[in-house]
Amino acid sequence: MQSIVLDISKVFGFISEEQIFNQTEAAETANAKLENGSGKGNDFLGWLHLPSSTTETVLDEILNTANNLRAQCETVVIVGIGGSYLGAKAAIDAISGSFDNLSNKKPLVVYAGHHIGEDYLYELSEFLKGKSFGIINISKSGTTTEPALAFRLLKKQLENAVGVEDARKRIVAITDKERGALRTLANREGYKTFVIPDNVGGRFSVLTPVGLLPIAVAGIDIRQLIAGAVEMEKATETGIPFKENPAALYAAVRNELYKHGKKIEILANFNPKLHYVAEWWKQLYGESEGKENKGIFTAAVDFTTDLHSMGQWIQEGERSIFETVLSVARSRYTVEVHKEDADLDGLNYLSGKRVDYINKMAELGTMQAHVDGGVPNIRIEIPELNEYCLGQLFYFFERACGISGYLLGVNPFDQPGVEAYKKNMFALLGTKN
Ligand code: PA5
Repeated sequence: MQSIVLDISKVFGFISEEQIFNQTEAAETANAKLENGSGKGNDFLGWLHLPSSTTETVLDEILNTANNLRAQCETVVIVGIGGSYLGAKAAIDAISGSFDNLSNKKPLVVYAGHHIGEDYLYELSEFLKGKSFGIINISKSGTTTEPALAFRLLKKQLENAVGVEDARKRIVAITDKERGALRTLANREGYKTFVIPDNVGGRFSVLTPVGLLPIAVAGIDIRQLIAGAVEMEKATETGIPFKENPAALYAAVRNELYKHGKKIEILANFNPKLHYVAEWWKQLYGESEGKENKGIFTAAVDFTTDLHSMGQWIQEGERSIFETVLSVARSRYTVEVHKEDADLDGLNYLSGKRVDYINKMAELGTMQAHVDGGVPNIRIEIPELNEYCLGQLFYFFERACGISGYLLGVNPFDQPGVEAYKKNMFALLGTKN
């Protein structure tokens, strides 16, 4: 069985093993609070047993809808923001071919409603002209401005192109079971809908239809994704001793580092396909823990790309950071360096070596340099970038986030701070609501 592996050995020069294991009871209690629902935000724990309670019927319904969209559409637009799009984008980018969207692979998956860029919306509309397209509109509250705005424009374009009746067959809404403007709209128009459970917050919703439907539309195996998550649900459940529970260990280590002045966690990947996994992770931890004037600031870098930019800061800037490295053990494909007679670029010393070997040496060298430079290092090894391992990774981070939030003493499942900008924006826009 493939399993992600957590390595915390490179934090010991900064915090001691004893300091970490002193947190055993607190971390196990935090994990138990998730299980028995006695912690803050306990009405948002629906994600905890989501993998093991996902039925074949649910998966079949999602796959049928995905196949229906795939059959009808050259392009599918995923409309959503924050937790309503990042998980899908993370999985699709991690598993798909890097150039799928530039090739003739169908359907093409594109995104809208994740910002308010006028040029983007214009360009998307131009791009969709003459194409058969469908829309998956995702909003738990059903009232978020960014996706609502994008959907209004896309709906009109689709109706103008194919007529109101056919447009209805190509629109799927994923929202609350009864509340919100999107629910009202979907019921009135008769769209196919999926429900986001009341007790699952946006950033914990990747393994609900919010993530699963777009991921299935992209042709990715959601059964394997769930199977990996089920495995990690078992590996992190209450009763697994602290030392053997990767989620509890990761949560404890990052909190101990935070107490020792490491206020920023940088998630570093050595595989460009993981860029949006890091974006999803940033939201998960940033929105869950950044409150009550505390919480680790979550940042992300793509290596080796960013070694040529942020690498300087990480090596020699303020020592308030630690690094968590996502490392993929095995590449999917093999590319070897060939020998050249002239050797003008001086690379013959690498001939016969795989590109991935060079990448791994870059990773090892970077880790040693950063640890030597005062940056504690946590390493998460992913056996392969496939659906099963990604399902494990998603659940691992979710479970650890719940434990970590409780160790920090906050409610990891609310986000009161995101209302402030909305209040001001609505006042400036003169909304009647
Ligand atoms: O994690 C969260 O709750 C948020 O990031 C939401 O997902 C985001 O604000 C979108 O909200 P909604 O799905 O209600 O449109």
